[in-house]
Amino acid sequence: MAFDVAGDAYGRFMGRYSEPLAARFVDWLSPPAEAVALDVGCGPGALTAVLVDRYGSDRVHAADPSPPFLKALQERLPEVDVRQAAAAQLPWEDGEFDLTLASLVVHFMPDPVAGLTEMRRVTKPGGVVAATVWDLAGQRAPVSLLRLAALDLDRRAPGEEALPGAVRGQLAAYFDKAGLVQIEETELEVAVAYQSFEEWWEPNTLGVGPAGDYVRSLTPQKRDALRDRCRERTGEAPFEIRSTAWAVAGRV
Ligand SMILES: C[S@@+](CC[C@H](N)C(=O)[O-])C[C@H]1O[C@@H](n2cnc3c(N)ncnc32)[C@H](O)[C@@H]1O
Repeated sequence: MAFDVAGDAYGRFMGRYSEPLAARFVDWLSPPAEAVALDVGCGPGALTAVLVDRYGSDRVHAADPSPPFLKALQERLPEVDVRQAAAAQLPWEDGEFDLTLASLVVHFMPDPVAGLTEMRRVTKPGGVVAATVWDLAGQRAPVSLLRLAALDLDRRAPGEEALPGAVRGQLAAYFDKAGLVQIEETELEVAVAYQSFEEWWEPNTLGVGPAGDYVRSLTPQKRDALRDRCRERTGEAPFEIRSTAWAVAGRV
């Protein structure tokens, strides 16, 4: 499973992007000063930590199906109520939350409308459900540089462009189908600086997510060729990788 990896590996690979994205996401939502919040697909806690800073541990709850990520979250934020669950089956009562969020999770839901409908169920009338997804189809995701390098070498290399929500407008359409109203959408950009090529490359080899699975599936020779192609694409260090996510919010 793409997310059956240690929280530390995730932090070095996607956490570099998801931590600043979580802060931007919550700023964009400008949520109420007082709220009870749920982070769905919390991973090791990028967004959970932002919510805890605002509302305190006793008002923030979290869920994720991945045992190593739940362990990492418990170590990082031991006071938070965290439960092992997928978005489509949340172990909370109807209308418990003011704010139910999922950052970079809808891509991985087997049925995004079912997941968002369940997020709506656990949210109070008038409360907010919101999510982010990377622009994978537009090649503006953190994995896009690797993806384009892989395509340079193998036109049939598997990619993430067809994941749910990867195409412009798709996430907002899921919100509509899930019965949310007053839907708003924006783009959020994050930039991550790398001091060396190795600092960028090494996290790609840790087996995190579909891109990490792909790198691990290659023979050593093909992996070296991919690394060399990526180096041509990054150019000389230091360099910056810019990534864009769509954020969508709707009301119950
Ligand atoms: C890219 S990570 C995002 C983690 C975290 N939200 C962040 O921003 O760093 C995707 C997360 O979705 C979780 N996930 C995968 N399928 C899920 C599902 N059906 N419902 C909820 N979470 C899921 C994974 O275990 C993983 O923690």
